[in-house]
Amino acid sequence: MNKNFRESFEKTKVAGKIAAGALDEVAKIIKPGVSTEELDKVCYEYINDNKAYSAPLFYRGFPKSCCTSTNHVVCHGIPSDKILKNGDIVNVDVTAFKDGWHGDTSRMFKVGEISIKAEKLISTTYEAMMKAINIVKDGIHLGDIGSTIQTHVEAQGFSVVQDFCGHGIGQTFHKEPNILHYGEKGSGEKITEGMIFTIEPMINLGKYETKTLNDGWTAVTKDKSLSAQFEHTIGVTKDGFEIFTLSN
Ligand code: MF3
Ligand code: CO
Ligand code: CO
Repeated sequence: MNKNFRESFEKTKVAGKIAAGALDEVAKIIKPGVSTEELDKVCYEYINDNKAYSAPLFYRGFPKSCCTSTNHVVCHGIPSDKILKNGDIVNVDVTAFKDGWHGDTSRMFKVGEISIKAEKLISTTYEAMMKAINIVKDGIHLGDIGSTIQTHVEAQGFSVVQDFCGHGIGQTFHKEPNILHYGEKGSGEKITEGMIFTIEPMINLGKYETKTLNDGWTAVTKDKSLSAQFEHTIGVTKDGFEIFTLSN
């Protein structure tokens, strides 16, 4: 059966693989002593080499090709000459734009040896994202996604950020619907076959509140506790989902 969303899925997968590949390059070089700007350079070059564009670069004035969010930075950290040190945790978030379509993904990276608490925060955040992805299929409610994440995260004593959410994505970087990472089972609109969106929970070790720094981008936890995030771009099918931002 040749349904008309197939082409959008195929194109998103091409963009998504490029974004994931950029993160694989980051994984090869990240270690204590490396600056976040060096991570940005690797992302920029990988995306460019694959004849794609970085969607964040110049998006609403954002100056770099990826976001690098370290320790208590929740999201939208700007790559700089800041040097990563042993024990840091850093999210790198990449969005590739290829042939008119976007692929958006992020992962956590551990710099040297990290604390047991940080390990737990990272694993819980990843599990929450994957649990939510795994319930996705035609006919579920958006609240089912939020509730799956919130339940898993709060059982560990961590909190779900409410100021930022996942989003529809396609030929536009950010579009409807908003994908909240908290909420009530059975609430919100139903998702349908052919939809493409991100799930990208931001999870804090302490309280959920955030604030944005004077640079207008960097979002941090208000209580300065550690924060973690993972992101995949996925498509909804009749019986399940496809993840477009896998490396292989
Ligand atoms: N990639 C981020 C997201 O997941 C958005 C970054 S916008 C930027 O939606 F301008 F900060 F790069
Ligand atoms: Co996103
Ligand atoms: Co992203």
